[in-house]
Formats: sequence, C-alpha cells, structure tokens
Amino acid sequence: FPIRAFRKQLLTWYEKHKRSLPWRESKDPYRIWVSEIMLQQTQVETVKPYFEQFMEQFPTPEALAEAEEDEVMKAWEGLGYYSRARHLHSAVKEVMHTYGGEVPKDPEDFASLKGVGPYTKGAVMSIAHDREEPAVDGNVMRVLARVLLIEADVGKQSTRRQIEADVRELMAGTPPAEFNQALMELGALVCTPKNPDCPNCPLKQMCRAYNHEMVDALPIKAKK
Ligand code: ADE
Repeated sequence: FPIRAFRKQLLTWYEKHKRSLPWRESKDPYRIWVSEIMLQQTQVETVKPYFEQFMEQFPTPEALAEAEEDEVMKAWEGLGYYSRARHLHSAVKEVMHTYGGEVPKDPEDFASLKGVGPYTKGAVMSIAHDREEPAVDGNVMRVLARVLLIEADVGKQSTRRQIEADVRELMAGTPPAEFNQALMELGALVCTPKNPDCPNCPLKQMCRAYNHEMVDALPIKAKK
C-alpha cells in the first residue's frame, strides 16, 4: 500500500477543502473537547449554533464546573443524548479538582474522565495537543474500510481495533491534528455513506474498494 502517497494526497486535499468551523478557530483543549462531545451523535450544522452559545455561556472548564446542572441541561436542550452533557459536567468538575482546571495532556489521564471514550480521547489529544492518537468514528471507519478494502463487520470491537491500528500506522510522522481531521472531513464531504464522490477523491488511485468496484458494498455492518 502506497502509504506516503496516501498521506500526501490526504493532507493536500484537506488543506484545500477544509471547512471553517467554530471549533477549528483555536486549539483550546476545552473547546475541542466540547465540540467533539457535541459532534458524536449530532450533525455539524446542528452543532454549530449550540457550540457557539455554549462557549459564550461556559467559556472555561471553571465556568462549566461552577454552573448548576439545570443550566447545563438547558444549554444542551435540543441536542439530545443528554447523558453526554451530564458526563461532561461531571468530567470538568473532576478537571477542576484533580487537574487544577487544566484539561489533562496525558491521553490516559484524559481518558479516565467521564464520557471520554477512545474516540474522544484520540480526537482531543490529537487536535489540541498534536499527539499521535487515532480518532476513529463512523466516518473514519467508512473511509478506511473502503481504502483498505476491509470486509469485517465495522460494528465489531475487533474491527474498530484493527482500524485504529491501521490509522496509527498511516498517521505516523504526519501532523496528527491535520491528519485525523482530514480523514473526518473526507468522510463527511467525499467518502459519504450514499453517493460518494469518488471521481473527486484524492485517494481514488490507491482506494482498493474503488478499484474493485466495491465502494457501495463497504463498510459492512451486520444487522443488530
Ligand atoms: N466530526 C467529529 N469531529 C469533527 C471535527 N473536528 N470536525 C468536523 N466534523 C467532526
């Protein structure tokens, strides 16, 4: 697999096509964290106004930690999956108590916080702190399943682990914040679930699914 060409093509495409999004304006780990929690089960366009409002209302971990549960839930109203807000609130209190108000830079410390799973850990550590950590969500699994022609069930834990290992290898030596966001952006803008825009994909030359006419068949998700 042409790993150097993959890195080059992906990063060059991202530089040209990346969207201006409110959480891309700074590297503040708290802002990145809030955005990644909101984005986990909610579309980018829906998240934007909530994110802006939330940041105005709770600009720092301290401000959020000191807020009443009711205020936090009210700010989240309409986003859904309310346990995300409760866990985030609880986690920033832990950040105040245990880490002096600084979002931990150590991936394992950060991952010990409520609501921080492997995806959030990878996303925040790579985007805010440039750590080489994979951030594998549904978009990234789809891109990798297609490019590498992975026919295993992406709903299985073992497949996610495999894809995390693949991302680790692919991202080695690249700027982690750019690399992970480039994969997410490609999944959102080009390598979409339906009607992917393969002719305009920077990876089409090396995409195994494209070259085997398997794009529409991947990723494979077993029925629950
Ligand atoms: N989805 C999840 N994280 C994202 C990010 N940082 N930018 C755009 N879409 C995303």
